[in-house]
Amino acid sequence: MKGVILAGGTGSRLHPLTRITNKHLLPIHDRPMVNFAIEALVNAGIDELMLVTGGTHAGEFFRLLGNGHEHGIDRLFYAYQEEAGGIAEALGLAERFGAGDRICVMLADNVLESSLRPAVENFSAQERGARILLSPVEEVEHLQHLGVPELNGDGRVIRIVEKPSDPPSKFAVTGIYFYDESVWDVIPTLKPSGRGELEITDVNNWYVDQGAMQYDVLEGFWGDAGESIDAYYAVNDFVRAHGVNKP
Ligand code: G1P
Repeated sequence: MKGVILAGGTGSRLHPLTRITNKHLLPIHDRPMVNFAIEALVNAGIDELMLVTGGTHAGEFFRLLGNGHEHGIDRLFYAYQEEAGGIAEALGLAERFGAGDRICVMLADNVLESSLRPAVENFSAQERGARILLSPVEEVEHLQHLGVPELNGDGRVIRIVEKPSDPPSKFAVTGIYFYDESVWDVIPTLKPSGRGELEITDVNNWYVDQGAMQYDVLEGFWGDAGESIDAYYAVNDFVRAHGVNKP
């Protein structure tokens, strides 16, 4: 399985911090944010990675990561997103890298307390399709800023709603996604959403419609450090106090 780390976008929710650097290079405790996503994938045994980024600070990723070897990456590839066209558009840039294998996609602002390894093993054992990771979230206002699944109580996803005004469950769809090779056929069929982006939720709902979407519920803390300045500090506080990417 190969890994795709998405580290683009304008980071507008963290302006003005993100006017002077890429969101995924902002510090979380003792490291730039992107390092936590890399660690999560490498610790789960995924060491062939593509980093997709864009904007005016892309060169800083080379300075930080180089060829990746210091970070446990065997082979590191880079792609450049010319415009912030959404998560699914960014993922499309990894097609040639990912073709011929399954992929694990991780948004570089997502930080996890527990290991990704069990989910990687579950997806490896899955015959086809896609897999998402859910995390329990209590507050409705928080869920309204995320993707939220409707579940049938029988282990199946009925649909995923992006930024729901009325969240259909108490789970967030985290920014970690597993896809088989069909993903490369789905992305070109997507239409921009109301926010002008190609949505990863539309990719996921394609798999839901095929009856090919499975999920795991993450144990422990999960945070999206790019969601708001409060979320950014909540993730910082957690990492500093408890550590993340635990085996
Ligand atoms: C994205 C996804 C959303 C998901 C979130 C997790 O949101 O669209 O479904 O819950 O990442 O980090 P965005 O950060 O683009 O608002």
